[in-house]
Amino acid sequence: MELLKELSPAEYQQEAKSDCGGLILTLLDDEKEKIEQLVRQHNTVNSKDGADITFNYLETWNKFPRRVKRKLLEFKFKGGDHSYLLIKNLPLLQGLRDTPLAKNEIKGKQRDYAALLQSIISVSLGYVYNFKDKITTGLVDDIYPIKKDSNKQVGTNSVFLEWHVEDGFHETKADFVTLLCLRDDPEVKTYLMPANHLNLSDAERVQLSQLDYLIWEDLTFNNEGDLRSTKVKVLDGTEDPEIIYDPAYMEACSSASAEAFSSLKDSIVKGCLTLTLAEGEMLVFDNRRVVHSRNAYSPRFDGKDRWLLRTLVVESWWKAKNKKVESTLYVS
Ligand SMILES: [Fe+2]
Repeated sequence: MELLKELSPAEYQQEAKSDCGGLILTLLDDEKEKIEQLVRQHNTVNSKDGADITFNYLETWNKFPRRVKRKLLEFKFKGGDHSYLLIKNLPLLQGLRDTPLAKNEIKGKQRDYAALLQSIISVSLGYVYNFKDKITTGLVDDIYPIKKDSNKQVGTNSVFLEWHVEDGFHETKADFVTLLCLRDDPEVKTYLMPANHLNLSDAERVQLSQLDYLIWEDLTFNNEGDLRSTKVKVLDGTEDPEIIYDPAYMEACSSASAEAFSSLKDSIVKGCLTLTLAEGEMLVFDNRRVVHSRNAYSPRFDGKDRWLLRTLVVESWWKAKNKKVESTLYVS
């Protein structure tokens, strides 16, 4: 698939400057040092209770440098025109082990340190949570290529990862998603398209705002052959629209809706932004307002492939009220 707009690093910086002040946050060296110390000193609470875990992260977050806290709050409150924030120069520990080759491999100290750092930053946006039925090892997901997934439409594949929002079928889909890069690959590009940048006619917008699209749960969920599905609107009909888009797991229910869906795809491909995540960079985006994808690439499965960590965040735990699993941070 050809994407028409790819920004060079210089153009990307230019875009960053033109945003409403929140697009890139580069940590100063003294901020990086302070954060590294704080995360090393963090005492993880031994509890499965969501309030205990969230409070535990917040206690350390509250000690973070003021400028960093301010930027995260600004992003949460204002969003900015692009609805994403790239945090650079985060501290990572030296000596990261080889990128695992299979799911659920033991991950190691450097990975766990990064996951803790990411969780602490994520809690500034809301509640870090995960899905009970997802094939995962905890609240923080690991994303690296897995050979047997190469051709599937999941984040561990290596063919083009189709445009999507995270868990669009689920009523507790994330409000924010964070991706922290532990090991980079310059060939791997992340594509983003904010819904408020879509170039669509009024008629197409109206059609996309009809409850006329079916969406199924994706293959990262454990299920016994019974895929959950629900009817959704692609756009919510407002000026700064929420978007639900995941064509690999979605179907239009009428020809008019299918046509508008196809125009939407064209607009996404023509208008998207490109990022190449480097080690120590964390991308935060608003999953209600941004669709994302990734290019096809050729992992070597030699322990040096790209490795990201992902957190999912809901601003209000109220959103989980029908799906929460006891008092944990998991939903069903
Ligand atoms: Fe994704």
